[in-house]
This record gives sequence, C-alpha cells and structure tokens, in this order.
Amino acid sequence: MLQQNNTTDFSLESQIEWWKAIVYSINDGVLVIDHEGIVRLINPEYTQITGVTPDIIGKPLKEYRPGAQLTETLIDRKCKVGVYRKTEDREYMVDMAPIIVNNRIIGAVSVCKSLTEVHKLSQELKKKGEKLEQLEKRMNSLYQAKYTFEDIIGKNGGLREVVYVAEKVSESELPILVTGESGTGKELFAQAIHNKSNRFNRAFIPVNCAAIPSSLLESELFGYGEGAFTNAKKGGKIGLFEMANNGTIFLDEIGDMSYDLQAKLLRVLQEKKIRRIGETSEREIDVRIIAATHRDLEQLVNKNRFREDLFYRLNVISLHIPPLRDRKEDIPDIVQFLLQSTEMNLLQNKFSLSYTIEKQTMNLLQMYEWPGNVRELKNVMDYATCMAEGTVIKTDHLSEIITKKSVPLIESGESPLNQTLQEAMEAAERNFIQDTIKRFGHDIDEKKKAAKVLGISLATLYNKLKRHKLHF
Ligand SMILES: Nc1ncnc2c1ncn2[C@@H]1O[C@H](COP(=O)(O)OP(=O)(O)OP(=O)(O)O)[C@@H](O)[C@H]1O
Ligand SMILES: [Mg+2]
Repeated sequence: MLQQNNTTDFSLESQIEWWKAIVYSINDGVLVIDHEGIVRLINPEYTQITGVTPDIIGKPLKEYRPGAQLTETLIDRKCKVGVYRKTEDREYMVDMAPIIVNNRIIGAVSVCKSLTEVHKLSQELKKKGEKLEQLEKRMNSLYQAKYTFEDIIGKNGGLREVVYVAEKVSESELPILVTGESGTGKELFAQAIHNKSNRFNRAFIPVNCAAIPSSLLESELFGYGEGAFTNAKKGGKIGLFEMANNGTIFLDEIGDMSYDLQAKLLRVLQEKKIRRIGETSEREIDVRIIAATHRDLEQLVNKNRFREDLFYRLNVISLHIPPLRDRKEDIPDIVQFLLQSTEMNLLQNKFSLSYTIEKQTMNLLQMYEWPGNVRELKNVMDYATCMAEGTVIKTDHLSEIITKKSVPLIESGESPLNQTLQEAMEAAERNFIQDTIKRFGHDIDEKKKAAKVLGISLATLYNKLKRHKLHF
C-alpha cells in the first residue's frame, strides 16, 4: 500500500497518474494490454526501443502488431522470458507476464530491453578482436623460430644423444636449460625444440639477458603500466613475457641476469603470472621457458651470483652441447652443409656454384681447436667462399688464424686425429718457422736473420716455406 502524507493527493485519478509516472521513468520499454488485448499503456522507452508510437493506445495489439505474442499470455497465463525480436533496424529482448488479480486475468505486460546498442558494442568488440588476432598473427610471424632438428648437423655420439633428449622433451611443458660454449648451437637447439613442440605456430621470443642493461631488462620482460615512471609510454608497454604468451621465451645468457631479477623470474615460473611495473593486478601467462648460458651455473650458484632455487627450477631438463673440438669428425659434414647454404644463397641471386674443398684445407679445419665452435666455422667458410676465385676452397682461402693455429698434415689420407710422429714433427716445424718469420719480418734481410736463428741456410728456409705452403 502506498504511504499517504499531507502533500500527496491520492484520488483514483492521481493514483493512475502516479503509476503512469513510475512506468514512464523505467529504463526498460513497457507495454500493457487489458484482458481483451487492447493496448492501454506504453512508456517512451518502449517507443524508443521498438519504434511503436503512443497512437497504438486504445487499439487491439494483434491488429497493430500481428507478430506480438503478448496476447497469448492472456490465454496460457505463462510468463515468457528473453524472447528475441528483430525488426528492420531494431533488435530487442522481451519478457512477458500476465497481470492476475483475484485469480482473474485483467491484462498482460511486456517489458523489453534494446539489443541494438549491445549489438553495436559487440560488433565493435568483434572487429577489435579480429584486429587483435591479425596483429597477434603478424607478431607470431615476426617471431618465428627458423630452425628444426633437421638443421642440426653432426653424427658425433655426444651430439646425437643431446638431440635425442631434446626431441623427446620438446613436447613437455617443463623448462629447459641449454648449456654449451659460445657458438655451439644453443639457440639452434632452442628453436628446434620450439618448432617440434605444440607451440610451433606461436611466437618464439629470444631475449639476450647479457645484451640488455639490467635496469631495462625488467621492463622489457614484464612491461609497464601507464605512468609507471617518467618517460613511460602512454598506455604502458607490453613485456616480452606477454608477447610470448602461448609460445616460447628463450632467455639467452641467463647467467648474466641480475640477482634481483632472478627472484622475479622465479616467481613467474612458479605462479605463471606476471605483473607489469607500476601495476597492481597480475596477468596470467602461459609461456614455455628455454634458458641458455655458456657459463657454469653451478659455479655461479656457489659464488652466490645465481640463485640456487632458480637454478633447480630451470635445470629440470638440462642439455649440454659438446664443443666442436670434441666432435671434429662432424667438421666435414658441417662444412658441406655450410657450403650448400652459401650455394643456395647464391642461387637466389641467380648464380649457380658448387663448391668443393681441398683435402688439405679440410685437414687444416680439423686440426684447429675452434674456440668459437660452429659459429666460428661458419664465419671461416663465409670468408673462404668470399676469397675463393673459383669453386675450390684452398688453404690460401682460410683466414690466417686457422692456418696459424692449425697443425697441418701432409696428405697421407690418414685421419688427422691419428697423427704419426713424422706428421707431428712436420706440424711442429711449420708452426716454429711461421712464428719465427712473423717475429723477424717478411723481407729478405729479415728472412736471413730468421734463417740464422733457426740454424739453417736461407735456401733451406725457402724450401721449407714452400713445402709447408707458408706464403711469406
Ligand atoms: N650442429 C650444427 N649444425 C649446423 N649448424 C649449426 C650447428 N651448431 C651451430 N650451428 C650454427 O652455428 C651458428 C651459431 O649457433 P647458435 O647461435 O645457436 O650458437 P649459440 O650457442 O647460441 O652461441 P652464443 O653462445 O654465441 O650465442 C648458427 O648459425 C647455427 O645455425
Ligand atoms: Mg646464442
């Protein structure tokens, strides 16, 4: 019952006005019919949503709007919820209910909500979503891993074992730690693992933790919110972890990450959530982590420069790639592979070349210790193909560091790893002569001095230089 007071007139007429005002102030559209199906009331919102004007009042609803279901409510007495209606340019949802007084139907009410606005918003959202998807696809294609396990050349048992384990663990979600000297193929392995995993068509984001100053690395990895610090970009910045979402992040040179940041990384590994700098809320992420280092992490742990807890977390699966000097038998295959890649590059430029390499040159390559591993071998072969006038790679085409530090073999057909005494003496002689000439110089007087120190005649020195293919 309405509460009366002195200022309110509660005559029947004014009560009708009162209820009308209430119906008019409702944000949803309202239409009321009497027990004969004649429209008795509509509010302005109903006109707004459906386009039906107040001149419908006093007319049979069914005549005016043949599709209307409200009149059925008078018969079946049932409420209907969420009935979808669509006209040319409008969409709305309708709830219908009978009006029952003393068990008698005196009419029915229809309440409707516009969907046009909702629809517009959802269309806009859909468009934005599509755009986001396209951007995501573009980003994924920009951050594609190039290499697969097929690209890892070498038959050496140690290497094959690492490949075997790496292939097996590719599909697991566990973090992987790849160790090995510089240039052994740590990133090659990381890419191959990503490409064999279920995440292959998602982003592979490499991050060199040693190349980015530690003050910047945190915001690079986690991103930041708007106004996180002066010079922060408007709208904030997405971090590499978010960019790698559903894909793989490759944390190269993890041994160089600052101790503080290591703690934050550990948290990401444990919680699978990141928080942009300056923001309070966290974002869920699903990222596979592959870390790599050329350092001895255990030693860094002992020196308190690497967190023990992070080390154990990362070291669940560890892959150690052997250095090239321990698998010199792979050098010929890798050289062949590298020469073929060069040929392919040339073919793209419409040159057709097929390189061969002299046996003695290959021997030199196999005698060298390769401190820079396969990367260094790749550089040496790039240099050699550049220097070669034809298609045969000769010792002359190798950079000096190789000819200087390698111990040459006489062409015996023997494996360079099984030297005879004679071969070892030859190699030592070559090195000694080379060093002496370097010390004294190249011109004739300097060579005379070198010969004197070596205790041989100038003619013998020339003979030896020729025999050892030393071009001074
Ligand atoms: N077994 C291999 N077969 C073919 N190519 C290889 C092999 N190992 C390495 N490479 C090539 O050598 C180069 C160096 O490899 P990669 O960059 O993966 O080494 P890395 O261990 O990450 O080196 P760094 O520690 O210097 O970053 C790349 O061009 C790579 O493709
Ligand atoms: Mg690398």
